Amino acid sequence: MTADHLRTLRLGVNIDHVATIRNARGGVYPDPVAAAKLAAAAGADGITAHLREDRRHISDRDIRRLSDELDLPLNLEMAATPEMLAVALNHRPHACCLVPEKREEKTTEGGLDVAASHRLLAPFVARLKAGGIRVSLFVDPEDIQLIVAKALGADIVELHTGAYCEAVDDARAAELARLTTAAATAERLGLECHAGHGLTYQTVAPIAAIANVVELNIGHFLVGEALFVGLEAAIRGMRSRMDGARAAAGLAP
Ligand code: PXP
Repeated sequence: MTADHLRTLRLGVNIDHVATIRNARGGVYPDPVAAAKLAAAAGADGITAHLREDRRHISDRDIRRLSDELDLPLNLEMAATPEMLAVALNHRPHACCLVPEKREEKTTEGGLDVAASHRLLAPFVARLKAGGIRVSLFVDPEDIQLIVAKALGADIVELHTGAYCEAVDDARAAELARLTTAAATAERLGLECHAGHGLTYQTVAPIAAIANVVELNIGHFLVGEALFVGLEAAIRGMRSRMDGARAAAGLAP
């Protein structure tokens, strides 16, 4: 049996958009922490939450409650700013995923340009690691980003799957090829490889079948699908598609 057969694929559920719905009315319902607990019961392997500078969805209180109440590993997505570093060092999540952040964007539009901003990022990576937090960098599938991520001491790269999800036909196949190559490069460099952004039931299988990818982080689609079938069923549906894709590729689930 090869190493490929033994690697497993984790599902991190991003609960940001439960908070988006809550914040639309400014109250306490629906509660993203309750959603995280439901996700755990439905088989999620981790919870991801993005504390944005403008607090448009997840709040500081959500992060505190997730840290205190959750049994699953918490992956805190955040921009590399002194304010967010202080939050992370206060709560010490299992991992921090550094992402680019622009106030005017609807969601994280591209990967972090690690190659261009390595001087800015270096002290953040170092301080997080010194705090015992695993550091992930959200990057586009480009060799230079992976090489610089490794040089910075990151533990993980999360490959941005947005361009793949938005592309069609040949362009999508080309994006998938870029992701597949980047995942293999990440592993060769000794980086744990995650992937996410924009994944749906229609787009997840080819990404789940990439042997070197060990975690997918998925949010918006699952929260949307939950309106129709409930969150647990939406998560189980995603898990079964991931498992099916792994099995078809001869990989562990
Ligand atoms: N991974 C990262 C780094 C992200 O920024 C996001 C979006 O917050 C996701 C995964 C999840 O993307 P989506 O909500 O489109 O599934």
